Amino acid sequence: MRAGLAGARPLSRPCILDTDPGTDDALAIWLALASPELDLRLVTVAGGNAGLERTLPNARAIVGLSGRDVPVVAGADRALLGAFTAEPRVHGADGLGGVVLPEGPPAAPGIAADAIRAVLRGAAPGSVTLIGIGPATNLALALATEPALAGRVAEVVLMSGAVSEGNITPAAEFNAWSDPEALAILVGCGRPLTLVTLDLTAQALVTPARIAALRAAGGGRCLAAAAEILAAIPPSRRFGNRGVPLHDPCAVAWLLAPGLFTARQVAVEVECGTGPGRGRTHVDRWGRSGRPASVTLPESLDAEGFFALLARRLAVLP
Ligand code: BDR
Ligand code: CA
Repeated sequence: MRAGLAGARPLSRPCILDTDPGTDDALAIWLALASPELDLRLVTVAGGNAGLERTLPNARAIVGLSGRDVPVVAGADRALLGAFTAEPRVHGADGLGGVVLPEGPPAAPGIAADAIRAVLRGAAPGSVTLIGIGPATNLALALATEPALAGRVAEVVLMSGAVSEGNITPAAEFNAWSDPEALAILVGCGRPLTLVTLDLTAQALVTPARIAALRAAGGGRCLAAAAEILAAIPPSRRFGNRGVPLHDPCAVAWLLAPGLFTARQVAVEVECGTGPGRGRTHVDRWGRSGRPASVTLPESLDAEGFFALLARRLAVLP
């Protein structure tokens, strides 16, 4: 195992962030916006944690609160082969746990897949990092409709999947289950791919003490909203009600501070059948499948370092 398998990285990498806000998505978006290592060119939105009619205004409000001028574009309101199912038990009916943010600027015109392709077309080969923290529908649509554009992608980092048990079904993690066919397209797109799974994010447990530390890190409105959103997520039975995993910011942190993680190369196959295993990510850590170990799997996280990074970064936002 070694840390930082992605190798040498440019100082400020062009990025597209695809999201379905979503409580933890909000913190991931702010973390990306606050980080000079990432040149965030575009935020694209799908339904997922709530319907698109909620996730889109949420994304606009989250970006708007940061004061950063990044276009937000609406995308898929359904999966490639079906419907999205919201997760109000975790994110509330509004997607942000009932925390009301000031309305953000309007969405940029167009639809997500077109906007993603436009950014890729204008970019140098191998230069754009795709970060996906929702169902993979928008990213998959963009690449499936113009496959040559995969050549413009530096790497793909997704919060998706699970090595062990799922969180929406016994077998599947929510983002993977929401659109398994889309995830399979990304796993097969031929570019370096990192899967930040539930087994990793289980190590980033939000506790009352960590919320208090975040709140104490500064006086800005984004930090205050982030603490309020975290406090609104119900604690998880999976963790004996001690806290709740902060999934999506882990995917962004992987790009910012790979030294906080250890990782290994694995083979991954996404189950796309219609049975109880739908959306399961079969992760082969030991080469038993004979498939190429082409996916990077972060396996351990320095949780204290991660929450310190999150607080430091969010504290620079207004
Ligand atoms: C993932 O599903 C959503 O509920 C979260 O925002 C995260 O992206 C975790 O399974
Ligand atoms: Ca999400």
